[in-house]
Amino acid sequence: MQVQGLEDVVAAESSICFIDGDKGILSYRGIDIHELARKSTFEEVCFLLWEGRLPAREELAATQREIGAERAIPGEILSFLASLARTAAPMEALRTAVSALSAADPDGADMSPAANRRKARRLTGQIGTVVAAYERLRRGQAVVPPDPGRSHADDILRMLGGQTAPSSAVRALDIALILHADHELNASTFAARVTAATLSDMHSAVTSAIGTLKGPLHGGANEAVLQMLREIGSLDRVDADIRARLARKERIMGFGHRVYSTEDPRATHLREMSRQVAESSATTLWYDMSQRIEQIVNAEKKLNANVDFYSASLYFMLGIPPDLFTPLFAVSRISGWTAHVLEQYAHNRLIRPRAEYTGPSYPQPYVPMDAR
Ligand code: CMC
Repeated sequence: MQVQGLEDVVAAESSICFIDGDKGILSYRGIDIHELARKSTFEEVCFLLWEGRLPAREELAATQREIGAERAIPGEILSFLASLARTAAPMEALRTAVSALSAADPDGADMSPAANRRKARRLTGQIGTVVAAYERLRRGQAVVPPDPGRSHADDILRMLGGQTAPSSAVRALDIALILHADHELNASTFAARVTAATLSDMHSAVTSAIGTLKGPLHGGANEAVLQMLREIGSLDRVDADIRARLARKERIMGFGHRVYSTEDPRATHLREMSRQVAESSATTLWYDMSQRIEQIVNAEKKLNANVDFYSASLYFMLGIPPDLFTPLFAVSRISGWTAHVLEQYAHNRLIRPRAEYTGPSYPQPYVPMDAR
């Protein structure tokens, strides 16, 4: 076992997400991700993650209503977002807004299980609106208020673009939200659980998670993939560019995974969706480049594409600005974060590991200032 990075360390018991990294299996509450991607919706997956089972028809309708109603965010938060719009990147704005939303939460400091379940639904609704509203504000456009009667994916695209998105784009985003919803003890979920385990509140746990997701080794990788695609710029430059990056021992963003030794099952869907969207777009360039990069990295490094690789070209072709890719990851992962926080509260023990000390041997003298 390697101490650095807690590789293969089991740090919690959880009944939410099962991964077999050798077989490429991912399931939420035991249901295979491929089946969920084909048949489910983001709202249904939220219920599954929070409640541990698929909803009955009326329960699903109630979940859709609740998340829809919770997409409304307080006016003071919108004003606050407007004050950030000149300087903050969307992921910074989201992290800050979630922290601020705690002060406006109607359940306040109530830590009862019922209040925390409401907070899970509320934050899931609100985060989608924060991302869309912030994008409008920084473009100098009027914020589009949420429509509680629409699905989450539909309404987010509408609040971003100002008009109803094509049903193919709505379904593509809905599937992307399903695929990103949970992933066991990934770094941001672990951060959320560590925060929750001190019996701090859900907003603090989610704020920790967003800060953790932001890094390029985790959720920030999808934006970094698009940056790489743009730097390369054309299909005929891919081979030389990627080989040069590998020769410089650079990491190719969107490849590799701590848990999967085979294909990340989420990448299977995102690759296919990226291909489909490319074929109905003006250019297939972003998909073609991605595919060639994948071939080279597979052959040269035996590394597979992860969830962040094809989501980059997919989102870009759907017209989503690159610095919204990681916030969109959060729009989905909020469901998993909050499910894990609820699970942590239900069986809580402080998470407090030890470090292997590698500093100067004990005891060392305290040297007076004049003698240093
Ligand atoms: N490109 C080139 N080489 C790589 C890559 C990569 N993307 N990923 C791993 N390697 C190499 C690494 O250099 C090392 O080689 P060596 O043993 O010769 O030094 C070896 O593979 C093992 O790497 P590691 O860093 O010890 O592996 P890890 O389990 O700590 O890292 C990872 C996992 C995801 C951070 C890493 O694969 C990586 O940096 N990938 C690129 C960033 C990325 O796509 N992150 C998204 C992860 S999945 C979804 C998410 O969490 O958002």
